[in-house]
Amino acid sequence: MKGKNLSNGHHCSPETLALGLGYDSSLSEGSIKSPIFLTSTFKFKSAEEGKRYFQLAYGLDPRKEGEENGLIYSRLNNPNLQIFEERIAAWNNTELASVFSSGMSAISTTCLALLVPGESIIATLPVYGGTYFLFTHILPKYGIKVHFVEAGSDAPTLIRKKIDEVGAVNVRLLYAETPGNPSNVLTDISAVAEISKELNKKKSERKTIVAIDNTFLGPIFQQPSKHGADITIYSATKFIGGHSDLIAGVVTGKADIIKEINVSRTILGTMATPFTGWLLIRSLETLAIRMRQQQANAKEIALLLSEHPVVNWVKYPGLLKDGSSQKTIFDKQCTGTGSLISFEVKGGEKQAFKVINSLQLFGLAVSLGGTESLVEHPMTMTHADVPPEELISIGITDGVIRLSIGIEYIEDLKQDLLNALKVIK
Ligand SMILES: Cc1ncc(COP(=O)(O)O)c(C=O)c1O
Repeated sequence: MKGKNLSNGHHCSPETLALGLGYDSSLSEGSIKSPIFLTSTFKFKSAEEGKRYFQLAYGLDPRKEGEENGLIYSRLNNPNLQIFEERIAAWNNTELASVFSSGMSAISTTCLALLVPGESIIATLPVYGGTYFLFTHILPKYGIKVHFVEAGSDAPTLIRKKIDEVGAVNVRLLYAETPGNPSNVLTDISAVAEISKELNKKKSERKTIVAIDNTFLGPIFQQPSKHGADITIYSATKFIGGHSDLIAGVVTGKADIIKEINVSRTILGTMATPFTGWLLIRSLETLAIRMRQQQANAKEIALLLSEHPVVNWVKYPGLLKDGSSQKTIFDKQCTGTGSLISFEVKGGEKQAFKVINSLQLFGLAVSLGGTESLVEHPMTMTHADVPPEELISIGITDGVIRLSIGIEYIEDLKQDLLNALKVIK
């Protein structure tokens, strides 16, 4: 299947497109699934063809009607990456997508592509620990300043205040991770997009771009492009890969921005390998059913935890109270509650570690979104680089445990948790 429509004009949904879009089996001996194109380079039919492919790739000559980029070299393009990119763009309702060797290479390539020294990012906190490190230790070395505001219902107001402080002209990127890792706090995407729209009315160039890290919910339960985000970023290592057997990242969004990011991806060499592309194509086929099953399990686990006497609180979008500002944001932009849960046990790190060490089915490992359930301690693991006082100020204490819920039989997961929580007297 090459396009998105049937011959009668019916437009297929991403769930269907995930099985066929962008792949022509007649080019691969009729193979029903795409083979892995394990090749570094591609043979041109003639010197003229090679010249034309380079003209198109580097934008040296206008594209003719219907003319597509040719395959050149796997740092620029490869069928496995292209098939995946078409399908993930369809899932996100976006024009183009670009796949990277990791979520971090997606984020860092995006920042290096879009910002120049003197420009700044306003980012919500919490963000994933690696993103925090990039923003606080690496980008400042290149003259890119990152200013943080607390994620959540007040984030748009805080962003406006920060813009007043740092000066609108230099704000190139508004960056939000929503839901935030690990607290599940939500930031209103359309309110952030509105701020960039206002800024851009006064800018003729170097316009402000809205980037949303959608790793926790997307693309099944949240599609930031529908709410005004220019680009959506993923650690595809998580739900999109879904089997804890690969590392990858995605940036998807408006064509002109993705093209700009792709130039940097080609030169920095941060693309994914063909094998990773192939694994991601396989994973996309089951993305929706995996995420729905994980969510069904997570809803039950969140409820169990919220009623447990040794648990102080549980952060899970499915437990948001009607009428709260977080629930209003949830209703506006999310279509599902996902499968990441953070909760605080009584007794701080000591008791949290006891619970973690007592779990038998939950793997004690960082990462999330795989078919198996995982447990970790954000303060000392994924977010170890964020100063503890900053974490505590947003509610991430040393008693907080993060769970990623998998597709196991729910009763087994419940029994494992209940058993482990017994260690706290
Ligand atoms: C929300 C979020 N964004 C980005 C990343 C970085 O992704 P990767 O580990 O694939 O580089 C992670 C990793 O845990 C994450 O949780």
